[in-house]
Amino acid sequence: MCGIIGYIGTRPATPILIGGLKRLEYRGYDSAGLALLDKNGLTTFKAVGKVARLVDKLRGDLSPEKHESYTVGIAHTRWATHGAPTEINAHPHFDKSRKICVVHNGIIENYRSIREKLQKLGHKFDSDTDTEALSRLIGVHYKGDLRLAVVQALQQVEGAYGIAVLSADEPNKIVVARKGSPLVIGMGDGECLVASDASALVSHTQRVIYLDDGDIGVITPDSVDIRNQDDEPITRGISELDLDAGAVEKGGFEHFMLKEIFEQPESVRNALRGRIDLSEGNSVLAGMQMSPKELAEIHRTILVGCGTSLHAGMVGEYAFEDVAGISSEVQQAAEFRYRNPIVDHHDMVIAISQSGETADTLAAIRKAKEKGTMVLGLVNVVGSAIARETGRGVFIHAGPEISVASTKAFTGQVAVLLLMALKLGRSRRLSQEHGVDLAQEINQLPELIDFVLKQNDAIAKVAERMAKSDHAFFIGRGPMHPVALEGALKLKEISYVHAEGYHAAELKHGPIALLTPGTPVIVLANQTSVLDKVWSNAEECKARGAHIIAVVTEGHAKTDLTDDIIVLPKCGPLVATIPAAVALQLLAYHVARIRGCSIDQPRNLAKSVTVE
Ligand code: AGP
Repeated sequence: MCGIIGYIGTRPATPILIGGLKRLEYRGYDSAGLALLDKNGLTTFKAVGKVARLVDKLRGDLSPEKHESYTVGIAHTRWATHGAPTEINAHPHFDKSRKICVVHNGIIENYRSIREKLQKLGHKFDSDTDTEALSRLIGVHYKGDLRLAVVQALQQVEGAYGIAVLSADEPNKIVVARKGSPLVIGMGDGECLVASDASALVSHTQRVIYLDDGDIGVITPDSVDIRNQDDEPITRGISELDLDAGAVEKGGFEHFMLKEIFEQPESVRNALRGRIDLSEGNSVLAGMQMSPKELAEIHRTILVGCGTSLHAGMVGEYAFEDVAGISSEVQQAAEFRYRNPIVDHHDMVIAISQSGETADTLAAIRKAKEKGTMVLGLVNVVGSAIARETGRGVFIHAGPEISVASTKAFTGQVAVLLLMALKLGRSRRLSQEHGVDLAQEINQLPELIDFVLKQNDAIAKVAERMAKSDHAFFIGRGPMHPVALEGALKLKEISYVHAEGYHAAELKHGPIALLTPGTPVIVLANQTSVLDKVWSNAEECKARGAHIIAVVTEGHAKTDLTDDIIVLPKCGPLVATIPAAVALQLLAYHVARIRGCSIDQPRNLAKSVTVE
């Protein structure tokens, strides 16, 4: 996610802004910028890469004595969503007069239509960002009252935002607004700050005001005025921060992995935002815009990836076949790149990657392109090599994933794969009625994830009963088979337990020889047409003394057979893969915590495998 810090007071703003950006670095970003304001107007600096690059720019362009004159400023670390990570796309962004500038965290869904309207008014955009549409729109509405101009502009905006706005004509204030992206105001003595999270404020004040969605605030060195969009004054209480900066960076969680597990209702909401057409029962994927003829010419999808992304692709394979009636197969990227894949222009290759830098996946894309096949990316990191190499596809907007173990990227990938299947399905045999049903289910995913997150303490107790075992089996059928593989991978990589995921029917063909009394067997036993077969497989394990942990649909537990239960919300078998994966993420997390492992940085692992 992007990071925002703003300062208005009597001290030099530059070092405060830079210090705040450094506090926000953990959020992950690819460029940074700031705007400084004094009686001569606005001065701005931007740099691609780390904050240190921005500091280099400042030292070059800003004499020390000039630093002193700037006591107002806003700054930003950008996690690219619209437009590659370039200096011109870095924030702040200006209005046409270049006397108003904005830093923004979030996604403006209707930015294209705003850009088109403004271009008709003669605006020539500098950047590819959604944010510049907002900064220019504020400028259009500006008639001498910055707060009013912001209110009027935001009334035309759809999407999520946390913003801070400066005007050279009103140098004694910063206007802030929040809808869907957090903003917090810090109250100092004769100074005020604003930030996207409290970690950027803890060095300056412990007294903060958390803005709510719809709030629009005006901050000055000595005052905070908060109103709603109807211009009615709002009172927001002052909270005392009791977190140290390190803890705040993790949002109060002990590890980034747990923070990212708990971010999933929001990260999946971001993946779905603006992409579900509930009335048509279809999905709206800008990166997959094809004519009905082009869609009909796709006879097969080939999903390539590695590790967790490969498991997401395996779920996608079921979705494309069940929903779209289209042949689909998954290939490990390192295999695809070295075999002689029989592909042609009727195939659509989808390269799945969180980092967008995985060497094998990148090579697989190049192999597919050599064969003349259509290639799409399903990626989290905008501007990454795979995003550039495919040139088209869908971003999952999960925000930066800091923990090496992938969690929110997996659920974001699967959510988008369901949308892709819906789109392909509706271009084929899937009726509007069935499309609407699936679209509504997908739309419920944040709440389905929340249902599981509420069981965190109960899952921690289940983990206590399996944490001593050095071995574990995960078994499932259908789309829960890849979830079993993913659950085993999570446990392996962060707790070093030797865990294996198997198709439930596969156990009796050999692996069950490994079972000894007390071995944990995690059974994905959600409500499906083959549930009785899954229970039979669980009984085979129980008969050999296994410790059965069943992941069941609410109201369908088989208590005589199970030692522990984790409950999933009622939903269809494809959508259920996401709450099920969240349950296994929590299980793995707690086992690793109990075993005292290095959860965010497991031994031997890298976040992005950029080598073969
Ligand atoms: C996931 O928990 C692992 N860290 C790893 O398997 C990862 O999914 C794999 O390396 C692929 O990475 P990518 O999604 O960035 O391409």
